[in-house]
Amino acid sequence: MNHLPDSPAPAWWRNSAIYQVYVRSFADGNGDGVGDLAGVRSRLPYLRDLGADALWFNPWYLSPMADGGYDVADYRDIDPLFGTLAEAEELITEAHTQGLKVIVDLVPNHCSDQHVWFQEALAAGPGSAARERFWFVPGRGEHGELPPNDWQSYFGGNAWTRITEADGTAGPWYLHMFAPEQPDLNWEHPEVRSEFESVLQFWLDRGVDGFRIDVAHGLAKKPGLPDVGPDPDVTDLPYQDVDGVHDIYRSWRKISDSYPGERAFVGEVWLPTPGQFARYLRPDELHSAFNFEFLCCAWEHDAVRDVVDGTLAAHAEVGAPPTWVLSNHDTIRHVTRYGREDTSFDMGDKRLGAPTDRVLGLRRARAAALLTMALPGGVYIYQGDELALAEVEDIPDHLRQDPTFARSQGADRGRDGCRVPLPWSGTAAPFGFSPAGAADPWLPQPADWTDRSVAAQDADPASTLNLYREALRLRRAWVGALPEALTWVPSQPGVLAFTRDGSFTCVVNFTQEPVPLPAGADVVLGSADCTDGMLPADAAAWLLATAQA
Ligand code: NOJ
Repeated sequence: MNHLPDSPAPAWWRNSAIYQVYVRSFADGNGDGVGDLAGVRSRLPYLRDLGADALWFNPWYLSPMADGGYDVADYRDIDPLFGTLAEAEELITEAHTQGLKVIVDLVPNHCSDQHVWFQEALAAGPGSAARERFWFVPGRGEHGELPPNDWQSYFGGNAWTRITEADGTAGPWYLHMFAPEQPDLNWEHPEVRSEFESVLQFWLDRGVDGFRIDVAHGLAKKPGLPDVGPDPDVTDLPYQDVDGVHDIYRSWRKISDSYPGERAFVGEVWLPTPGQFARYLRPDELHSAFNFEFLCCAWEHDAVRDVVDGTLAAHAEVGAPPTWVLSNHDTIRHVTRYGREDTSFDMGDKRLGAPTDRVLGLRRARAAALLTMALPGGVYIYQGDELALAEVEDIPDHLRQDPTFARSQGADRGRDGCRVPLPWSGTAAPFGFSPAGAADPWLPQPADWTDRSVAAQDADPASTLNLYREALRLRRAWVGALPEALTWVPSQPGVLAFTRDGSFTCVVNFTQEPVPLPAGADVVLGSADCTDGMLPADAAAWLLATAQA
């Protein structure tokens, strides 16, 4: 096949397939019912054979786990639940040996209330220097009994908690845009800046290839912490996308660029407009960012085409590679979303319990996988996407662990349903997630996951696991290295078709009827059976022009 590009290979972060490892739920090596580094290490060959280029690990640091590890008590150590620093170092080396790059999760907006800095701040008392690393602010009202401003936590409820001083008197309030156990750091403080620069170096020195930046849009706050007000302009909130944040990334970029190899940042940037988003991807800032607009987009022809066009335009302006992501540890799994009447995703209204047609959702999820892997740029795969796992919606309330569930008094069902431990083998829980005789998995697995397991799908050539393997193989062999642009190919209503080089074409059928595939091309991969020259409803196919095949 003559599809190898002549130009030198692009930097890895421009077109990699990055597999997200949610460590707690990936594989349990020590039998305590919680995934760990030993489990990941034992499954590295699985990830290599799947065809991933890189692994992104959700936070693995020392943490009281008030928010699944996004409450970090020590950025330079591993939580004993997961293993040791030495094991993390070995894991990084072993991943590299298997040809897998490693991205770690950096959580700079907030730390844990158990972090030494916060404990020092509480102990040091009013007006102390230690408190300046956070946002301790006197309350409003006659006795300071009202929060300093009207900001609401992303997890629901007030974004402020009042402390009690050592002598028993009521003290100031501290800011936490997430749970109270996650105090926001004050990024105007030089020690906060230098500490995170040092943390970056700590992990770069250990060979990591990149960082995923948590809440990348949120670090800087508007001076004076003004009220949001009753009818806020969502493009101008005082706690997100405040200009100073860009200086932070410029200084980080200088650090990553000073290391050998290509070290990269991917930002978790949730912002309302593509213009705001793209500013994080200027050449001296972050290398890439998750495309949440695509994740949130409904599975509809016009909507998907518009988001693809908008994504390509926004990224082209700053020369950054687009990325494509269908699910992650914060969202409803897309097999479930795509089987609903409303197939879009909204963080504020997860519509848990909305009726879903899983068969339809699965067809679309398989088509979406081929779409995302054919588009120019990088692609993210959340663990379990390759097994076509659906959201687990019936976790009993008393077992739910996500703080968003409790903080919203259950109005938000939380994110546990996409974090259920993976099924590896067998016909009953723990489905090979833990060794024999282990404690129950930390979240219950559905009894009907037998046919979702890796072992079951391994044996089935038509499984979603094998579809992912083949798509990733072809993507690595040549699709990923095709020119970064795409050209839409005229097609019938409800069908999206684009080519990357005039020879490779991806066709997606959003209609409810089969459509004829274009003549003069061979199907190299289909999300459904295309042998009769037709592309079934809710399916996608990769084609190669016959003359060049
Ligand atoms: C985004 C992370 O993806 C999410 O899981 C976490 O709860 C918040 N940031 C707070 O760190």
